[in-house]
Amino acid sequence: MSRTVTLATLRRMKAEQAPIVALTAYDYSFARQVDAAGVDVVLVGDSLGMVMQGHASTVPVTLADMVYHTRCVARGLERAYLMVDLPFLSDTDDRAALESAARLMKEGGADMVKVEAHAAQAPVVEALSRAGVPVCAHFGLRPQRVGQLGGYRVQGRDEAGAQQVLDDARALEAAGADVLLVECLSAAVAARVREQTHRPLIGIGAGVDCDGQILVLQDMLGITPGQPPRFSHDFLADTGRIQTALEAYVEAVRTRQFPQLQHTFE
Ligand code: KIV
Repeated sequence: MSRTVTLATLRRMKAEQAPIVALTAYDYSFARQVDAAGVDVVLVGDSLGMVMQGHASTVPVTLADMVYHTRCVARGLERAYLMVDLPFLSDTDDRAALESAARLMKEGGADMVKVEAHAAQAPVVEALSRAGVPVCAHFGLRPQRVGQLGGYRVQGRDEAGAQQVLDDARALEAAGADVLLVECLSAAVAARVREQTHRPLIGIGAGVDCDGQILVLQDMLGITPGQPPRFSHDFLADTGRIQTALEAYVEAVRTRQFPQLQHTFE
């Protein structure tokens, strides 16, 4: 299905310094509301493992789960660009990544796949790009690696760590990533990534100096069980109606009123 927002739109928004608004969705009804609110990019994130399925991490999410939720969301979108996560271990080599991306695009209706990657996985990004798959490279904190990282922590905290993040950014861009997404970085490190790369840069917990922002839908509606992430904001508590909360989020990102200092790591 052809939607109004395309990759060309996202590139133009970056060139015009118009903030890109992104949000997750996992089902048809919310996809319609998020789309109607004017969100530019909808992500079917593997965060669905936590917020839809009740797991402790994204690790148990399967490719079949992602295809199912992508189909549901795709039916609800008329405007927004549809980005979808390749789940844990579905992209271990070029062939696996291509087969997984094919299912998400052909069966699910995804416009772009998102790969959690660092510089060493640049060849997978390159294989996808060479095959004509639009790719978003997600780095900084990579939730699929939470087992190795030992928890959800801010990345790139010292100069060596910051250099590693910048190396990842350059390698993934050179491999053909069309969009970069950074998670849990200090605002200063995210700003350096933006200075040193040319692709639209979407941030979550990465400060206001990105080309766009993304949140998990349940976090910005304040309905994620447990402690909300520091970088999120409960827009439903401010507004009392889901549609108004979604519109308030869109407006806050467009006007760079979100994120504020209290949502940012320094
Ligand atoms: O799965 C997800 O929702 C994500 C966002 C945190 C960016 O990857």
